[in-house]
Amino acid sequence: MTDFELVKMALEAREMAYTPYSHHKVGAALLCTDGTVFKGCNVENAGYTPTNCAERTAVFKAVSEGYREFTAIAVVGGMDNLKDLPFCAPCGVCRQVLNEFGDPDTFRIILAEAKNVDDLSKITEADVNIMCKTLKEILPLGFGPKNLDIK
Ligand code: THU
Repeated sequence: MTDFELVKMALEAREMAYTPYSHHKVGAALLCTDGTVFKGCNVENAGYTPTNCAERTAVFKAVSEGYREFTAIAVVGGMDNLKDLPFCAPCGVCRQVLNEFGDPDTFRIILAEAKNVDDLSKITEADVNIMCKTLKEILPLGFGPKNLDIK
């Protein structure tokens, strides 16, 4: 699984985003150690607070299916009228959820700017600019399971 392939899966997941309030669509693709990928999108709610981000949707889908070991997540997002997406980094709550399962030193957050997302069947590697960070880089001094002597 290349980073580009995982980004493409995140772009596919983004198509399913339910965003009648913000019109900001996010997609995520979470790679498990055995190669399985779980996709997730943001799911908004009229009560606003119950909204679930794309990254957490992917993590909760995976954990609820018995997967807890992850190596990377690709995240893409932007307003639903855009043809070209800017980088979209995980929010603080999602960083914390990723920290529950990902090793901060090695778990990779794959972010991508992407052009021409209006027709995913035609998207190529040239349309995508990838930036990669470790979980530790985006969540320095994080609080996690190790603080509670777990794992
Ligand atoms: N959103 C995500 O899905 N992931 C993030 O990391 C940032 C924000 C969603 C939540 C909400 O549905 C919309 O983007 C605007 O905040």
